[in-house]
Amino acid sequence: MSFLDHIDPLTETAIAELTAAADSAELDRARVRYLGLNGEVTALLKQLGTLPKEQRPEAGQKINRAKNRLESLLNERRTELELAASLPKVPSDFTLPGRRPTVGRLHPLTQITEEIVRSFRKIGFAVADGPEVEDDYHCFDALNTPADHPARDTQDTFFIRQGTAASQPATSPTPMILRTHTSSVQIRVMEKQPPPVRIIVPGRVYRRDNADATHNPTFHQVEGLYVDRGITVGDLKGTVEFVFRDLMGPDTKIRFRPHYFSYTEPSFEIDFSSALTRKMGRDWLEIAGCGMVHPKVFENVGYDPETWTGWAFGFGIERIAMIRYGVTDIRLFYENDQRFLRQF
Ligand code: DAH
Repeated sequence: MSFLDHIDPLTETAIAELTAAADSAELDRARVRYLGLNGEVTALLKQLGTLPKEQRPEAGQKINRAKNRLESLLNERRTELELAASLPKVPSDFTLPGRRPTVGRLHPLTQITEEIVRSFRKIGFAVADGPEVEDDYHCFDALNTPADHPARDTQDTFFIRQGTAASQPATSPTPMILRTHTSSVQIRVMEKQPPPVRIIVPGRVYRRDNADATHNPTFHQVEGLYVDRGITVGDLKGTVEFVFRDLMGPDTKIRFRPHYFSYTEPSFEIDFSSALTRKMGRDWLEIAGCGMVHPKVFENVGYDPETWTGWAFGFGIERIAMIRYGVTDIRLFYENDQRFLRQF
């Protein structure tokens, strides 16, 4: 058999093997066998030099054609096998219903807070913030609640021990506490800016309460403060009415009852009445505290009480949420039970 006669059968075997390769590894073994450095087609090329001179061009061309053919087949097969390997082993049924990703949602307390903020934004209130770890000056004294004031007992709270015992005595000059109400932020804001002031302060507060259906040591409040010239109880009542109608429905009625807070004079408790209270079997439900800012408070922040007037209020966010959604146990808000949270 002449040299040239070897080329075609060898090419056919190579084509058959490349075609039959079931995966990339098999394909690569076939490549090495025929086209590798010591491969059989490569060997033919190396033998060209041993041919008589006049046979070399034809033989060379023939071998090169075979080699090119094998190389393009190799590339084709490689792409095919890689694609096959990347496909799922089990075929997909595209007619099956999709798997819905679980999308989270805002906590009901966050939703209510955002609603409250939205309501106040409509009438020009800005959101202010203050520290949850507060000194007792901002939490009590500046709000006209001195150390011997009975109101302080009811808000006896979590004291923070500052520093380590080695670096600092446990009784530091300004006791730090977890704030018992957002009213401390009234002081923080007025200390920082001149009047007029128009803010609301949603935030977390802490009290030494045992958890039960209506109490929790941590809960949330919204504080409001409005300071300008010539502000009256009428402004306070109008604002509260507007916001509570927004939150509790257009049929909502508001009533003020005289009360006592050391940082307001006169002071009131706010009751409201709506379809929601009637659903709970009540005509009126207490919802907030408020009043006209006490002149002592203005003095404490350097505002002239002869020039400036204002009102303030504070209410609990959980209480609003409980009434709105008919939730009868406050602890449900903190348990992170998906079955509860999914409802909102
Ligand atoms: N700080 C009061 C509380 O936690 C609520 C409150 C009452 C806030 C009257 C006020 C206010 O700003 O004027 O119970």
